[in-house]
Amino acid sequence: MTTDEWWRTAVIYQVYPRSFQDSDGDGIGDLRGVTQRLPQLEQLGVDAVWLSPFMRSPQRDAGYDVADYMDVDPIFGTMGDFDALVGKAHELGLKVIVDMVPNHTSSDHEWFREALASRPGSAARERYIFRDGKGPHGEAPPNNWQSVFGGPMWDRVLDDGKPGQWYLHIFDSSQPDLNWENPWVHERFRDILRFWLDRGADGFRVDVAHGLVKQAGLPDYTPPEDGASMGGNEATEPYWGQPGVHEIWREWRDVLDEYDGDRALCAEAWVSPLERMAQWVRPGEFDQAFNFEYMFAAWTARDQRRIIDESLAAFQGVGAPSTWVLSNHDVIRHATRLGLPAALPQGEGIGPKSPFQPDVALGFRRARAATALMLALPGSAYLYQGEELGLPEVIDIPDEARQDPTWQRTKGKRYGRDGCRVPIPWEADAPAYGFSTSGRAWLPQPPDWARFARDRQEGVPGSTLELYKAALRLRRRKRLASGSVKWLNEWSRSRTVLAFRNRGVLVVTNLGRRPMSLPDGRLLLETESTHIGRNGKRMLPPDATVWLQATR
Ligand code: GLC
Repeated sequence: MTTDEWWRTAVIYQVYPRSFQDSDGDGIGDLRGVTQRLPQLEQLGVDAVWLSPFMRSPQRDAGYDVADYMDVDPIFGTMGDFDALVGKAHELGLKVIVDMVPNHTSSDHEWFREALASRPGSAARERYIFRDGKGPHGEAPPNNWQSVFGGPMWDRVLDDGKPGQWYLHIFDSSQPDLNWENPWVHERFRDILRFWLDRGADGFRVDVAHGLVKQAGLPDYTPPEDGASMGGNEATEPYWGQPGVHEIWREWRDVLDEYDGDRALCAEAWVSPLERMAQWVRPGEFDQAFNFEYMFAAWTARDQRRIIDESLAAFQGVGAPSTWVLSNHDVIRHATRLGLPAALPQGEGIGPKSPFQPDVALGFRRARAATALMLALPGSAYLYQGEELGLPEVIDIPDEARQDPTWQRTKGKRYGRDGCRVPIPWEADAPAYGFSTSGRAWLPQPPDWARFARDRQEGVPGSTLELYKAALRLRRRKRLASGSVKWLNEWSRSRTVLAFRNRGVLVVTNLGRRPMSLPDGRLLLETESTHIGRNGKRMLPPDATVWLQATR
């Protein structure tokens, strides 16, 4: 193991291809669109892009339902477009991370079609998790598990034209879970990984990496009432974080190690506490895991400091960098989340009839402060497209325009994730804000988004885009990502202040309600305007972060 692998310090930008840039006017973003915009990502100052799934898929879960792992979906383009994207990214010095979805396939995948056409117990059925139902005629599902998207985790199929076995799906019924007890499945995925590595992928983000192995016997399980739907509620969840899953990751690691160039593996694994999560990034397994505890930490100095300390200790304890992340395609954008009066359950989403609504201005301030704090921390950070524009969650999407299966499966009880997936604005005055040449967008864009458009922010001092650029530039120049956090106790004694030093930079966040005076130091970055107070000291307003050059 070396300590200079690129991913240890990388800022990785998540592209959600369907909402990034549409080059052919069908209202859905595509790979050519991504390639066109890569220079803007390079200018932003990120090190890598992670592409959410663009493989062949019926798109019932926005591409997280793959029907062919070795082809590009026509709505996103062709394999040639992927090659061109990788070529351009590498030319610009950007790495490319591919999203891999091994827990389940689409029900349109030929493996599943073969399974349906085959008899119970056949080799084709053994690729998935088929079981007989309960009750005299097998009419009840094999156990009580409930899908993450709502409703039972089982669907019944026809055998010889009559109701027959049931298959398991942690997510939508169009996403049958693969049977990872079957060596055949292991072999197929090793081939799939090599396919993308051969084409220049610099690594993989692994979807639902904690779900692949189910507890033997599939015992009944009821998660806590207000529990997190993706797991991490308790140590013994029969379909989340089963110990056997680590064998799979060691196998994948070996495949990546056949290649040169520090190919990276990042886990989407909703496990807690952080010490348990750290087991996923032990040597020989993943390089990184998303730090969801950090994502959901409350906006208080105590919680933020605790999670930062625990993250650094847990990950460093196994020789891995911590990751930091505030937004992605599954959660309420942090510019809105941080303005909510209370946390909503994970996966719930927010809509016009939600029990509480955000304080928009507060969320925006806090989001900028939180990002500036995050980008000063050592390790690797993930950004989600549009956060560099300060985009909020879109709350008032018309019911009939919503597409997330969560919304459909819960009959509108949970809004789901469409609000963070709205196509992003590039040009204030262009149709669809420059997202699409035809002016179409697969989810409606709010009428007041011109103010967030990238071209309105470019070169404008104080804009969120310029804040991100400046932070990323300084982070690189000051080598903050390979530094360390030294708390400044004389400042952090206050229960509303976070203050630390990383290399020569003092980072101070005011989480209180009143302006506070700052330590001495040259101003490097501010998320709100600071001013010199009557005591001659620089004053930091509430919900703001500054970076100062330490004087000694
Ligand atoms: C992951 C993805 C999410 C998807 C789910 C099922 O959590 O991030 O978008 O719906 O897996 O594949």
